[in-house]
Amino acid sequence: MGRAVRKQRGRGVALVTGASSGIGEAFSRALARDGFDLVLVARRRRRLAALAHELSEAHGVASEPFAADLSTAAGLCRVGERIAREPRLELLVNDAGMGEFGHFAGSEWSREESEIRVNVLAVVRLVHAALPRMIRRGRGAVINVSSTVAFVPTPSFAVYGATKAFLNSFTEALHVELRGTGIRVQALCPGLTHTEIFARARADASRVPEFFWMEPAEVVAESLAALERGTVLCVPGLKNRTVANLARMLPHAASSRIAELLTRSVKPTRIGVTRPSPT
Ligand SMILES: NC(=O)c1ccc[n+]([C@@H]2O[C@H](COP(=O)([O-])OP(=O)(O)OC[C@H]3O[C@@H](n4cnc5c(N)ncnc54)[C@H](OP(=O)(O)O)[C@@H]3O)[C@@H](O)[C@H]2O)c1
Repeated sequence: MGRAVRKQRGRGVALVTGASSGIGEAFSRALARDGFDLVLVARRRRRLAALAHELSEAHGVASEPFAADLSTAAGLCRVGERIAREPRLELLVNDAGMGEFGHFAGSEWSREESEIRVNVLAVVRLVHAALPRMIRRGRGAVINVSSTVAFVPTPSFAVYGATKAFLNSFTEALHVELRGTGIRVQALCPGLTHTEIFARARADASRVPEFFWMEPAEVVAESLAALERGTVLCVPGLKNRTVANLARMLPHAASSRIAELLTRSVKPTRIGVTRPSPT
């Protein structure tokens, strides 16, 4: 049954970074349902292997777990090479990301550096690896997972917000450069989404009312629909769009003050996961 579905739907290859949890896992599930063969990238190899197996069985797609640490030069180089030699790459989803909560001056430098490497350097490198072949084929798409914090300088997430502002600027400029090539690009800017990212950022966001949150699958459904329409900046959810529009209208001095007040409901936690477990 699986193979029949694949032959019927064969839509090329989608490479998803950050596929082992949260929004990246939801992308992987949605794309497998849509008939894409997958390359699943993250560090936790057992999770990737289990997901790849599940998606191949359920949807008859080829699904390759590819364990790599995108904060290292060697890991990033391996993923870049995998992308560059993939003749059927239709979609690159740069989802892998991490945040660091707290005032910058007191933060651990190694974590800030990893954050910039994963959120910025890896995205730029992987897009650079993907574009030449996509341009030759005259087709393809890239989704860079940004955030609504890209619109507002966000105290306590200063570096994280700046990395996401970079992604929006980068993606919007690429959109203009790629006009007429057949390649679509999107900066996906989710708001609060139920995933593991807050625990990993050592931030307890449990006091933020449920009203503000979305599920990863909802975010992904809006992103893929927006990609079909050619939307470059996709802000999923009406509430998030309203916040993003307000933030864009206010001077940064005012919006970052409001962001500072809002982040007061987020508290530091010591239970954060600093290193991935093997699963
Ligand atoms: N959740 C939210 O509220 C929210 C809001 C706006 C934007 N976002 C963005 O959404 C994206 C996905 O985050 P999420 O919320 O789904 O959190 P998540 O569940 O923590 O997922 C993060 C993913 O990135 C991978 N990753 C982290 N560091 C990596 C590294 N060094 N090398 C390779 N992979 C790495 C993780 O896999 P391994 O640990 O297995 O490597 C995991 O698969 C991020 O870019 C984040 O900034 C999230």
